[in-house]
Amino acid sequence: MLEHKIETLFSEQQIQDRVAALGAEITSQYSGREIVLVSVLRGSIFFTTDLARRITLPLAMDFLSISSYGEGSEGVVRITKDLEENIAGKDVLLLEDIVDTGFTLKYLLRTLLSRNPKSLEVCALLDRRARRIIDLDLKYVGFEIPDKFVVGYGLDYKQQFRNLRFIGVVQPDKL
Ligand code: PRP
Repeated sequence: MLEHKIETLFSEQQIQDRVAALGAEITSQYSGREIVLVSVLRGSIFFTTDLARRITLPLAMDFLSISSYGEGSEGVVRITKDLEENIAGKDVLLLEDIVDTGFTLKYLLRTLLSRNPKSLEVCALLDRRARRIIDLDLKYVGFEIPDKFVVGYGLDYKQQFRNLRFIGVVQPDKL
């Protein structure tokens, strides 16, 4: 394993504590309502399952997959797997593992808003604000992070390291 080349940014305990706090905040702010959690695959998978179990309200979970067209085509995103359910009239909470430029989120928000949810908010585990190009309102943020490459807890480098229980910094050229 290459795990020894990964410098811990947030430990498993720090992540679990922060996710629990987010869950409590969301539970109190959505009191009396039913939430639809919309999780963006694949990076948000562990964040979604942990956060969902920290929200003590009735909730539904749905998933979508997107694909971006890579460098030089920022903002060009398409849905490769759509939601199963209709979100019209629902209180939707969109879960992202990380927000960088904001292009992906802008596209997702525009797409989901066109389906007329009752409300639509964002909960992002990581905010790498230094890379932001599009100004967006993130209602809930787990951690703000520096402009470093991060892996673990759902985040990958070439599809590896998603299963790490912590979040760490890697220098891809040193792997
Ligand atoms: C990440 C993340 C967002 C997007 C954010 O997905 O989950 O969808 O990048 O970048 P942006 O703010 O610059 O648009 P990624 O492409 O790594 O896919 P994955 O979740 O399948 O790992």
